[in-house]
Amino acid sequence: MAIFFMRLFFYFFVLHFGHGVFELEASHHVYHTFQNLEESAVSATSQPYRTGYHFQPPKNWMNDPNGPMIYKGIYHLFYQYNPKGAVKGKGSIVWAHSTSRDLVNWTPQKVAIYPSQPSDIDGTWSGSATILQDGTPALLYTGINPLHQQVQNLALPKNSSDPYLLEWVKSPKNAVMAPAPENQINASSFRDPTTAWLGVDGRWRVIIGSKINRKGLAYLYRSKDFVHWIKAKRPLHSAKNTGMWECVDFFPVSVNSPVGFDTSTLGPTVKHVLKASLDDTKHDYYTIGEYDHAKDIYIPDEGSLDGDSGLRYDYGKFYASKTFFDSAKNRRLLWAWLNESSSVSDDIKKGWAGIQAIPRAVWLDKSGKQLVQWPIEEIEMLRTNPVHLPSQDLKGGSVLEVPSVTAAQADVEITFKLSNFRKAEVLDPSWTNPQLLCSQKGTSVRGSLGPFGLLVLASKGMQEYTSVFFRIFKGQNKHVVLMCSDQSRSSLNPDNDKTTYGTFVDVDPVHKQLSLRSLIDRSVVESFGGQGKSCISARVYPTLAINKAAHLYAFNNGSESVTITRLSAWSMKKAHIN
Ligand SMILES: *[C@@H]1O[C@H](CO)[C@@H](O)[C@H](O)[C@H]1NC(C)=O
Ligand SMILES: *[C@@H]1O[C@H](CO)[C@@H](O)[C@H](O)[C@H]1NC(C)=O
Ligand SMILES: *[C@@H]1O[C@H](CO)[C@@H](O)[C@H](O)[C@H]1NC(C)=O
Ligand SMILES: *[C@@H]1O[C@H](CO)[C@@H](O)[C@H](O)[C@H]1NC(C)=O
Repeated sequence: MAIFFMRLFFYFFVLHFGHGVFELEASHHVYHTFQNLEESAVSATSQPYRTGYHFQPPKNWMNDPNGPMIYKGIYHLFYQYNPKGAVKGKGSIVWAHSTSRDLVNWTPQKVAIYPSQPSDIDGTWSGSATILQDGTPALLYTGINPLHQQVQNLALPKNSSDPYLLEWVKSPKNAVMAPAPENQINASSFRDPTTAWLGVDGRWRVIIGSKINRKGLAYLYRSKDFVHWIKAKRPLHSAKNTGMWECVDFFPVSVNSPVGFDTSTLGPTVKHVLKASLDDTKHDYYTIGEYDHAKDIYIPDEGSLDGDSGLRYDYGKFYASKTFFDSAKNRRLLWAWLNESSSVSDDIKKGWAGIQAIPRAVWLDKSGKQLVQWPIEEIEMLRTNPVHLPSQDLKGGSVLEVPSVTAAQADVEITFKLSNFRKAEVLDPSWTNPQLLCSQKGTSVRGSLGPFGLLVLASKGMQEYTSVFFRIFKGQNKHVVLMCSDQSRSSLNPDNDKTTYGTFVDVDPVHKQLSLRSLIDRSVVESFGGQGKSCISARVYPTLAINKAAHLYAFNNGSESVTITRLSAWSMKKAHIN
């Protein structure tokens, strides 16, 4: 009934507002030709912040990654794209599309999904891909209808023999899930369907993020044919006071190995992860728990907390993330959007906004209490001119330059060994907020064991640098590792968001060495502490430390020396991206 009304509304719109229709067609013209903009891509010198090996379109606004998958040996990435400019334009958002054989080099394809039906005429928002039993990939995505309701739509490939999946056909049954008086769903808060999973009863399940007042939740729907969906009585999971859940993601992980599982996998060696992107705080948090598939509910493990007090994939910028199962290498890979920290007027000037993080493999840590993330091994194909420094002590108050790397575009791995723990600073029990601790204790606040780490995108005279570092504290009954990414000195331009990020790392520094890897790429620094146990991504815009004027240093500003047992750095080649 509601759908019939919407169609009627749409036809009314088409028949009576001719100029509106003309505008729509004009914009479709823009969508179809945007891939030619490649030719107008600007050079690195005039664009010091354009990345060399991160995924981004030639120009304009990009946000969420959508429907990542591998199909017939080709990796696909769709993404939220505004063909009309470098700022978010709600109504005009389309699904742009790129393909790759190695997840590093990407070929742009034509826009896959754009507003064309009543059920998505005001925007084609985020969604996910599911490989059906017969091997066909199906896309579920959120559409905005003329009543400004958020509804879920289905699209299937026009030609499933085409590994590039260039043409998509929308289901005539769209919208396949919609708010209605009987289901009491908030039509302004109902979006971003996940990859579906197949139950033992042969029915597909999918979840969609929503909220009821301040309670965030994931509505569950079931379907026998992927077209007719019925809402389950109970949501898969909900949590008080977390606000709107965007871009939910739900997937199995192995309890005893880093291999990834297909999304439908169940069994005794499986735990589940539920991730929600919190609209209120712009953080991607997750819990680890049990999926009771008989009752179709998910219960986080004891101690695995919902909301901002829980675990995050990344403690810097990292939003609207989405995983997929890479059946070619039996791993689960994570994509996420890293937005700009520059001003809107700077974004308009440079002509683009938004990059994707380097895809990460994710698996369950041996402790079972958190995930571990590591950049895909393929990114190492871009490493060139390796620099390996010999093991050495780094005295308190010293700085060591890593020579001969293109420091604006580099990959660096450093490992520290510590001693003299008796001198570690005592952790005040009130210091429970690591981000706050990092902003209070920057690199110039000298401790005993730390700060030590890396100064990246640094200018020769240190007018600019981004510091990624550790501090070791003596806690109640163990030593505590703090990891910080401090952007406060990253740029002489005052218009950027220079928030300091921080998190604790679950590594025992007495018995284990402490490692840090940073992927540096012109305006982004993605850092992985403790072999991927804690991650922090930052966007920075140096004015001096650009191109060849960027430097890379290791530093120790504690009073105690630390031993560098490994320091390897590589210049990173440019990838062929779009
Ligand atoms: C479908 O795709 C295959 C593989 O690219 C191609 O050979 C075939 O011609 C396509 N069929 C149609 C109807 O376009
Ligand atoms: C529905 O969601 C919108 C958008 O967040 C919000 O403004 C509104 O208050 C919500 N309505 C109810 C009844 O919760
Ligand atoms: C993007 O960045 C700005 C400023 O750095 C921040 O305030 C905002 O919440 C971010 N948005 C998302 C979706 O991450
Ligand atoms: C180390 O600390 C001193 C004293 O506070 C400060 O002057 C110096 O800038 C710090 N070094 C770095 C790399 O921040």
